[in-house]
Amino acid sequence: MTNAALGGSFRQINQLNRTDMHADLEELVSLTKGLFVTFEGGEGAGKSTQMRLLADSLSGRGYDVLTTREPGGSLGAEAVRHVLLSGAAESFGVRMEAILFAAARSDHVEEVIRPALQQGRIVLCDRFMDSSRVYQGVTGNLEPGFVETLERVAVNGVIPDRTIIFDLPAEAGLERARRRSNEEPDRFEKEQLETHEKRREAFLDIAEADPERCCVVDATLPPEVIAAEVLRLVEALLPGDGEPQSSRVEAAS
Ligand SMILES: Nc1ncnc2c1ncn2[C@@H]1O[C@H](COP(=O)(O)OP(=O)(O)OP(=O)(O)O)[C@@H](O)[C@H]1O
Ligand SMILES: [Mg+2]
Repeated sequence: MTNAALGGSFRQINQLNRTDMHADLEELVSLTKGLFVTFEGGEGAGKSTQMRLLADSLSGRGYDVLTTREPGGSLGAEAVRHVLLSGAAESFGVRMEAILFAAARSDHVEEVIRPALQQGRIVLCDRFMDSSRVYQGVTGNLEPGFVETLERVAVNGVIPDRTIIFDLPAEAGLERARRRSNEEPDRFEKEQLETHEKRREAFLDIAEADPERCCVVDATLPPEVIAAEVLRLVEALLPGDGEPQSSRVEAAS
């Protein structure tokens, strides 16, 4: 190969890298326009209740808020949700279920979450990647490497800015469930107690490993006390020091 041809190849590589870097930068800038908050924790911990309260507070201040949930949240993912929750995928085993969760998450991210963030919206999501780490990874006994790979492919760079983990003792979670069903706990529920406790610990481990992203909230407190704390945790990340996002976007255009 001649020197000129070699120079040409280097230029091509350089251009390619610059284009890739430019695309990455554009992606980064566009993603930082919105705010992505996820709500995590065990059953009955108050995730849905608090997501609704936060959405109301933020909408009331003029922010453009999108609430969504997993599994589901997009047309494709809702179809997969049905397959997962109906039990149709159970016979294929926990690995296959994890793959289906990841497929649903990928559709949800690409069709709903990423576009909303690119538009500068605040996205609140009821369960996201940490639920997979805990339910499929820890209590599903899947290999961490497998769970991590699925997560990386499914979220494709869309990591929550803030994850609020609602922490509730397993007994309290079961007590809430008992109040709902009005029945005494049976042997199965006793087994569940251990599983609930394991999940609780797993969520706390995630929070400890990633304190920048994750905040743990005491889910035994009254709903309005928790709501104030959740708002405080998200407020710190709001654009323009609490200035409504709609005006921020108008001012920028
Ligand atoms: N802080 C609280 N104190 C007492 N009860 C609460 C509190 N927050 C929510 N609840 C009640 O507990 C039940 C579960 O709340 P919620 O549906 O918000 O939990 P969740 O985490 O979304 O549950 P799931 O995982 O089953 O979707 C509801 O009946 C709700 O009214
Ligand atoms: Mg819920």
